[in-house]
Amino acid sequence: MKKVGLIGWRGMVGSVLMSRMIEENDFSKIDPVFFTTSQAGQEAPKFTGKPAGVLEDAFNIDALKAMDIIITCQGGDYTKEVYPKLMAAGWSGYWIDAASTLRMEENAIIVLDPVNGQVIDNALNKGIKTYVGGNCTVSLMLMGLGGLFANNLVEWVSSSTYQAASGAGARHMRELLQQMGALRDVVAAELADPASAILDIERKVTAAMRADAFPTSQFGAPLAGSLIPWIDVPLANGQSKEEWKGMAETNKILGLPTAGIPVDGNCVRIGALRCHSQSFTIKLKKDVPLTDIHQMLAAHNDWVRVIENDRAITVKELTPAAVTGTLNVPVGRLRKMNMGQDFLSAFSVGDQLLWGAAEPLRRMLNILLA
Ligand code: HSE
Repeated sequence: MKKVGLIGWRGMVGSVLMSRMIEENDFSKIDPVFFTTSQAGQEAPKFTGKPAGVLEDAFNIDALKAMDIIITCQGGDYTKEVYPKLMAAGWSGYWIDAASTLRMEENAIIVLDPVNGQVIDNALNKGIKTYVGGNCTVSLMLMGLGGLFANNLVEWVSSSTYQAASGAGARHMRELLQQMGALRDVVAAELADPASAILDIERKVTAAMRADAFPTSQFGAPLAGSLIPWIDVPLANGQSKEEWKGMAETNKILGLPTAGIPVDGNCVRIGALRCHSQSFTIKLKKDVPLTDIHQMLAAHNDWVRVIENDRAITVKELTPAAVTGTLNVPVGRLRKMNMGQDFLSAFSVGDQLLWGAAEPLRRMLNILLA
């Protein structure tokens, strides 16, 4: 059995990965070794139902070198520090990583096997050993719109994202909920009184949101009752880094040149907990009937769900509330736009922690074990 080192299994993405691995019985196929950055020597978790020994030191290159496969959800700083040392030590195992650090490296593949299984197979045949999960919005876009890309129908895509707090991290999720609670608490009495004036309520809420005491240490701005139209660091061209990833990673995942298919748009943080939604304007290479588009999208993978462009069905099925915690990637609001028959509008929702983070990693592990 392959020795698989697990790092960062206690964090948010790591915890989702562990629960998916338990659900899919992945632990029965591996000899797991749990690493820690702070608690070496303590008892390892018994995810498998059997004792897994003690926690190994995640900075011990010799211990890491003994692994056939390493999966890390520990984050970019860890990857930056440890990966080069492990490579310099001559390790020849497979490195599977959730962090973005290595994504654009020439010898790294971005993994999303329902979309780029062929790219992954070719890389394995070439002896490539580094496999990295993609940016969540990119992976979720490709899971939803994969059928259009696979049929070579996409000339360009413009997206507006509606990204959940989880993409920023666990502390951000807590802060969003604290903000929501603070806004509600400040008008609790007025809300209990049906005769109170809504604009008085709004004024109090707005004042609370703008007050110094409002909890914004994580996001740097109010998110509850508002939104933040900037994600990640600025680039010189005016894009945020999150927006830059859209085109760079899409083309890399698809095995196309960097300038292959233009993808651009605004990335926006909204007050959802763990589902990223995206609104797309897609310029098709040709006019294709909507019924054919529905079929292509639905046939692409087992998780995409084409949602009829009907109000009642849409508000029930095409929302973070409906999708959170599932592997489904619904895509709907499908219609041709006023700009012409080769312009398609679409909207998708997906769980940022599942297909957007953990799921492609455990699937890559399974590809290596097959
Ligand atoms: N960068 C993403 C976000 C999450 O901030 O929502 C990771 O892919």
